[in-house]
Amino acid sequence: MITFQSNNVIDSAMKNLLLSIIKVNKYLSSILNYNEKFLSKKNEKELINILKEYNIPYDSLKYDSKILTDNPYYKNIKLDNIHYGNVKYEKTTIKKRTLMSMNFHQPLGKYLFHYHPLGYFDTNVDLPALKEGDKVWMSPAVSEIKSMQTGIDKGHGKCLTMGLGIGVLPYLWLLKDEVESVTIIEFNKDIINLFDTYIRPQFKIPKKLKIIHGDAFDYYREDFLNQFDYIYIDFWESTEDGLDSYIRLMEKNIDMSNIDYWIEDSILYDVKYIVALYLLAVYENRNISNFISSVDENFKIIANKINKYFRTMNETIKTEDELLTFIHNKEILKKILAM
Ligand SMILES: C[S@@+](CC[C@H](N)C(=O)[O-])C[C@H]1O[C@@H](n2cnc3c(N)ncnc32)[C@H](O)[C@@H]1O
Repeated sequence: MITFQSNNVIDSAMKNLLLSIIKVNKYLSSILNYNEKFLSKKNEKELINILKEYNIPYDSLKYDSKILTDNPYYKNIKLDNIHYGNVKYEKTTIKKRTLMSMNFHQPLGKYLFHYHPLGYFDTNVDLPALKEGDKVWMSPAVSEIKSMQTGIDKGHGKCLTMGLGIGVLPYLWLLKDEVESVTIIEFNKDIINLFDTYIRPQFKIPKKLKIIHGDAFDYYREDFLNQFDYIYIDFWESTEDGLDSYIRLMEKNIDMSNIDYWIEDSILYDVKYIVALYLLAVYENRNISNFISSVDENFKIIANKINKYFRTMNETIKTEDELLTFIHNKEILKKILAM
C-alpha cells in the first residue's frame, strides 16, 4: 500500500492540495454568475477584480472576432441551413458582450487549481453549429478551435481522426504541406452523408480524404492505428461523456506515442481530483472502503481503479514532488485508468 513519510514538507503539501480544491470551487462559483450572460461594463470590472484576486492570467476580456473570422475553415466553408435526417446545421448568433469560455480549463499553479479562459466579442458574431436533435456536436467556436490546436499543429504524414463532426480538423490538416492524407472514423451515417453532400465539395484540396463508417472503439487497435503517422481522437461532446469513452480506450492498453485526445487535460482533471482525495484519505489514515463508498456514484469506477493501483504499491511518498507526480503524471493516470 502507498504510504506517506511523516514530515513537515508532506504536511504542508497535503494542506496546499486541500486548499487548492477549496479555492477552485470558490472561484468557479464566483464566476458562474457572469458566464454566458451579457457582460455590462460594471460587471466586467467586478469580474476583472475576481480574476485578479485569484491571479488568473488575462490580457483583456475583449476578443477580436477575427480570431474566428480569419480561421480558414470559418472563411472558406459555408454552412447554410442544411438538414439531413436527424442532423442539421443551425446558424446561431453570439450576441455582443456575451461572456463565454474561450477554451477548456487550464491548470494554474502546482496543485489542483484551474481556470477557464473567459472572453467576449464586441460585435454580434454568427456561428454555424452541427446539431443532432438537441445535442451540439460541433461548431467552429473559439473554444473548439483552441482546444484542437495541438492536434492541428501535430498533424503530419498520414493522419487519422475519430469523429468527423463538421470536418474542421480534417480541413485544417489538409491545408498543411506536411499532411499527406486524412482518414476519419465516424459512426453516424447522417453526419457522413451531410458532409459528403455539402462540405466535402467545398474542400477543393487534391489530397486523399477517406471516411470509414464505423465505431471508434472497433478501430482503436494497434494493427489498424499502426498505419498512421499521427492520430487525434475526438468523438466525445464534452468532458462528461469524454471521461467514460477515454476510460474505455485506456482499458485497451495501447502503447503508442503518436496519439492525442481532444480535451485530455480537462478529462483527466476529474481523475486527478479523485486521486488527490484518495491520497488525502491515505495520509489521514482513513478507512479506504469507507472513502470509496463516499465517492459520487459517477466516479466510483475511478476510485476503485485508483485503489487497485495504489494498494499493491510498496512506495512511500516523502516529498512534494513525489506527491505531485502521482497526481499529475499522465502516464501514471493512464495506467490507473487501464486497471
Ligand atoms: C466533437 S465531434 C468531432 C469534431 C471534429 N473534430 C471536427 O473538427 O469537426 C464528434 C463526432 O464524433 C462522432 N462519434 C460519436 N461517437 C462515435 C463513435 N463511437 N465512433 C465514431 N464516431 C463517433 C459524432 O457523430 C460526431 O460527428
